[in-house]
Amino acid sequence: MVYIPPSHSDRAVDVGLKRRQPDLSRHLSTEARARLPNPIKSIWKVAQVKPGTINMGNGDPHHTLYPVCEMNFVVPSLDEQDPVQSWRQGTGDQQVISSYKDEPCALSLRTAMAYGAGAGLKHVRDALAELNDRIHAPPNHTVSLSLGNADALTKCFRLLGNPGDSFLCEEFTFSAMTNAALPLGIDWVPIRMDKDGLIPSDMEKVLANWDDATQGKRPHVLYTIPCSQNPTGSTLSLERRRQIYQIARDWDVIILEDDPYYFLQYDLDIRSSTVEQYGFTRAMAEVLPRSFLSMDNDGRVMRLDSFSKVLAPGMRLGWVTCNDFFGEKLDMLTDSSSQHPHGLGQAFIAELLGNRGWGIDGFMKWVSSLCREYERRRNLFMDVFRREVVNTGLASAEAPQSGMFVWIKINLDCHPRYRAVVDAGLPGSAVSNTAELMDELFRKLLECGLVMMPASTFAIVDRPGHSATDSHIADRVNYLRATFVGTDETIENGLAIFGRGLEEFFCH
Ligand SMILES: Cc1ncc(COP(=O)(O)O)c(C=O)c1O
Repeated sequence: MVYIPPSHSDRAVDVGLKRRQPDLSRHLSTEARARLPNPIKSIWKVAQVKPGTINMGNGDPHHTLYPVCEMNFVVPSLDEQDPVQSWRQGTGDQQVISSYKDEPCALSLRTAMAYGAGAGLKHVRDALAELNDRIHAPPNHTVSLSLGNADALTKCFRLLGNPGDSFLCEEFTFSAMTNAALPLGIDWVPIRMDKDGLIPSDMEKVLANWDDATQGKRPHVLYTIPCSQNPTGSTLSLERRRQIYQIARDWDVIILEDDPYYFLQYDLDIRSSTVEQYGFTRAMAEVLPRSFLSMDNDGRVMRLDSFSKVLAPGMRLGWVTCNDFFGEKLDMLTDSSSQHPHGLGQAFIAELLGNRGWGIDGFMKWVSSLCREYERRRNLFMDVFRREVVNTGLASAEAPQSGMFVWIKINLDCHPRYRAVVDAGLPGSAVSNTAELMDELFRKLLECGLVMMPASTFAIVDRPGHSATDSHIADRVNYLRATFVGTDETIENGLAIFGRGLEEFFCH
């Protein structure tokens, strides 16, 4: 684990924080408490202390027998003003960055291809710690690599969750991940959302009204996606983030900040004078949203970042930033399971972010150029959407300020077959046929040759009797998640099909 020294004076920084960090062991799962370190890796750590020690202890293949001595990556040159545009159009220069086994480079293949530590290799962790420090200035945290946020999240669930625990999450969420917690016996408690994301007062209400006698242990974990919330596309305001952090503090809740879309922000007002004087990292840091991590004086945030959305998902590389106690426990889990992130990806990142590659500032230049391109696609999507769909009066959507998703509201109450259910059954159960009609619409669009993700796929259904006063989520699934990341042609054709499909659906 890498200790990130505090550096920015405008954020909460206190050299005494490390000593004052509260004991967080009460949050650990039984599994995490029971886990022993991987004994071989423990010995290896001790053995590395004395330089020149002869290693006859490990079963590592010898590096002279690795069947590779060099890897070349051809990447866009960042000399271009708008590198993503030049790359797409094939007009820009290219840059070759190389990893070698036996020649100088940022991270030798000898190291990258050998067994390593669960936290990842120092070169890469150091680079990411620096990136973190320049963007979030986290008060007192460490960095470990992951195989992307899915890997990191499932490990965090195991770190913090016991069978019978309840965790909080947004009422519509990335169900691929919440489902991964179910076999661990973790139950999800949905927090209401509006167009701006998770509603802090609802989180407070759920925690304050929690009855241990009937509901079991009060939730001690919030899983949230603060930017381009998947699926709703909403981004939490600073005000909400502050409120949520304070509530987490009041009720001793750990925040899992799953933020793979963080770097994809639109309508940013990047100051060219800051770029010229201090570079892209500082200019971007000034306008990117303030993360939960940046506020985290008491070590209750585990922030998950990923290269999936800004480089490529097949990289399977991301990073977790958290207090060093949880970090160490996570590393122990990795040390005894996936071992460590794969070496080739780490070699690429080390060179890319190193002196002979883009460097951190170049990476941020790429990211800002990527933001411009996705912003263009978002704008095109919204223009075509207005023309093909809003004009029908059957659906509407807000332009998202980050990420990849548009959350489309279907005006189902205009449908001739929309109805309130006569016998609603138990208090709090569904009172309309919204879910059935949305299922029909999904199938209809599929027949027309278009897939959009139905809201029901992401809905967290509360336990019976939990939210008797609130409307049932099945009455609020009149949404579809669409993405605007595709080509102009995909956007034009997809939304034309959507508009026509909607009109036909509303006629029957
Ligand atoms: C909210 C959210 N979390 C996690 C992931 C998984 O990310 P990764 O590719 O880094 O595992 C995704 C991918 O779509 C996502 O949308």
